[in-house]
Amino acid sequence: MMNKLRVGVIGCGRIAKSHLEHLQEMPQVHVVAVCDTIPKRAQEVARRFGTSTFRTYQELLDCPDIDAVFVCTPTTTHADLGCAVMRSGRHLFIEKPLALTQEESQRLVAEAQRSGVITSVGLQWRYLEGVSRAQEVLGDYPVTLIRGWYYWTWPMVGWIVDRRTGGGQMMDQGIHLLDLARIFGGELSELYARFTLMARKGDGFPNWDSQVMVGQFQSGALLNIAVTYASFPQFPDISGLEVVAKDRVMRITPSRTTKFDPQGEVAWYESQSAMARADQSFVEACLTNHQSLVRSSIGDAARSLEVVLASTESAESGAVYHFDVQS
Ligand SMILES: NC(=O)c1ccc[n+]([C@@H]2O[C@H](COP(=O)([O-])OP(=O)(O)OC[C@H]3O[C@@H](n4cnc5c(N)ncnc54)[C@H](O)[C@@H]3O)[C@@H](O)[C@H]2O)c1
Repeated sequence: MMNKLRVGVIGCGRIAKSHLEHLQEMPQVHVVAVCDTIPKRAQEVARRFGTSTFRTYQELLDCPDIDAVFVCTPTTTHADLGCAVMRSGRHLFIEKPLALTQEESQRLVAEAQRSGVITSVGLQWRYLEGVSRAQEVLGDYPVTLIRGWYYWTWPMVGWIVDRRTGGGQMMDQGIHLLDLARIFGGELSELYARFTLMARKGDGFPNWDSQVMVGQFQSGALLNIAVTYASFPQFPDISGLEVVAKDRVMRITPSRTTKFDPQGEVAWYESQSAMARADQSFVEACLTNHQSLVRSSIGDAARSLEVVLASTESAESGAVYHFDVQS
């Protein structure tokens, strides 16, 4: 087992800083260097986190003292950067969504299989303590309905505002809910989706401001996910997922999970952020060479992306999307 994981970070925007905050708390991690296409950003981040910079990701990958790389760049760059990291033999943490297209996603899946490095995707809702609470409470009771919501506002980052580069809110935020729903519901057999631009029409908003998907799992359970950019950050419980079985409802949010049953309700609060736990799991997996410690695999991220792409296709065509139930 290695005693310290030597990490490089590609992209120094919003999410990179969150990961770096967690990584600097871990004594078993040494952040060797960061890079960004905007050198000033890389320099500011390097100063703040006491690390050095490279001008390009190629230079970062040429550095022999790096074992693992975090890819924290816009989604359109994920396939090329992620594949380059894995080809170089480094372990890969890549942000969600895995990619913007099925072709890019499949390239990442194939390279992960070929290279055999440890991989993890930033679908951190899987690491919420509430997930295991819900699994315990639901036990063998058949899940009949899963309902998720994400009420957000005009996105803070320009490339996410534009649906051509961000993919839309179902791709950017709804994917967390959908990915979690698959833990409880399994794989989907069909879905139908709609999107609209109503509330922000006239604001020059290059996106849909509400999206809905309705689906059925192979088990027969139903799925409904609704997301909107028409809301505001102060809205309470901006996001969550409810899982319903006979006489019990589990409501999972990033800060707490609540059980509702005929006796009343009980809430459990998360002891740390899910992203911190995702980062720790990835680091442990790299240090011990155990991919099984990662809950957010590239394979699962590719599946969740496939569902989001199907929802866009359904909303655009107006047709029900049927999944290959053998897959
Ligand atoms: N897991 C989560 O909950 C979560 C939350 C927010 C963002 N994200 C994801 O994180 C990723 C980054 O999002 P963000 O909000 O930090 O974006 P951002 O725009 O704030 O940061 C991205 C940075 O990458 C840099 N960059 C672009 N191309 C590059 C390249 N080829 N080499 C080096 N640097 C490059 C940009 O200059 C920018 O500084 C996206 O995939 C996003 O979906 C995940």
